[in-house]
Amino acid sequence: MQMKKSGKVYHLNLNKDQIQGAKYVLLPGDPFRCEAIAKKLDIQSKQIAWKREYRTWLSKVNDKSILTTSTGIGGASTSIAIDELAQLGVKVFIRVGTTGAIRKKINIGDVIITSGAVRFDGTSTQYAPIEYPAVAHYRVINALVEAAHQQNVPYYVGIAASCATFYPGQERKESFLGFVPRRFQGLTDELRRLNVLCYEMEASVVLTLCSVMRLMGGCVLGVILNRYKDGEKIALEDLEKGEENAIKVAVRAIKILLSSKNGD
Ligand code: URA
Repeated sequence: MQMKKSGKVYHLNLNKDQIQGAKYVLLPGDPFRCEAIAKKLDIQSKQIAWKREYRTWLSKVNDKSILTTSTGIGGASTSIAIDELAQLGVKVFIRVGTTGAIRKKINIGDVIITSGAVRFDGTSTQYAPIEYPAVAHYRVINALVEAAHQQNVPYYVGIAASCATFYPGQERKESFLGFVPRRFQGLTDELRRLNVLCYEMEASVVLTLCSVMRLMGGCVLGVILNRYKDGEKIALEDLEKGEENAIKVAVRAIKILLSSKNGD
């Protein structure tokens, strides 16, 4: 849906002229992460829009336009960002996020490249039934793996659980309520046994919407805590470590995709 006269999509406050033909977007959750990501792509990057949680920067890599747009937290706001960017012609979507690992072997600062996601998000079922898989595009997975390799960032490829809430839905007792509703008690252990690697809140929406819309989607998640070893608390230095490595991998993956045969 575009606004009359300006042709701007409603929430992102962007039109086709502003994005200069961009086909690729990096999607952090936090608007305050956009500048660092965009400047890592290209030091001359510029902010082109900021409305609510949606902040967009435009970068140029080998003369190609690349966007960085923040999604806010969770499925609903992420679905709006993807839908409106798709309306403007964007084709490749890479979420750059953070995550809480639920497996003993995964360390702070490692990255998780999602091959798929458990759809606990509460939003993606409005685009496709729950039986529809949330899977990443193989070319995006390959580029992220190559990017992690090239930069010696330890990585895992696997399944994330994308939850509708940070507290009860991720089995956190340290919330205002102070308890976990019965339906979520034991969830972390069950997911571990089901070979799920981590908790986060947006991957399943990115992957489901991109598949449904015939777009390319993928996610790289920096590990900022290990629920197995660290409990529920997050340390600032661990947040920075996880974010930094996820950004490093995502930026390199964009460059790898651009330089590949089908990179236009
Ligand atoms: N993001 C989440 O949703 N959960 C975590 O534990 C860490 C980051």
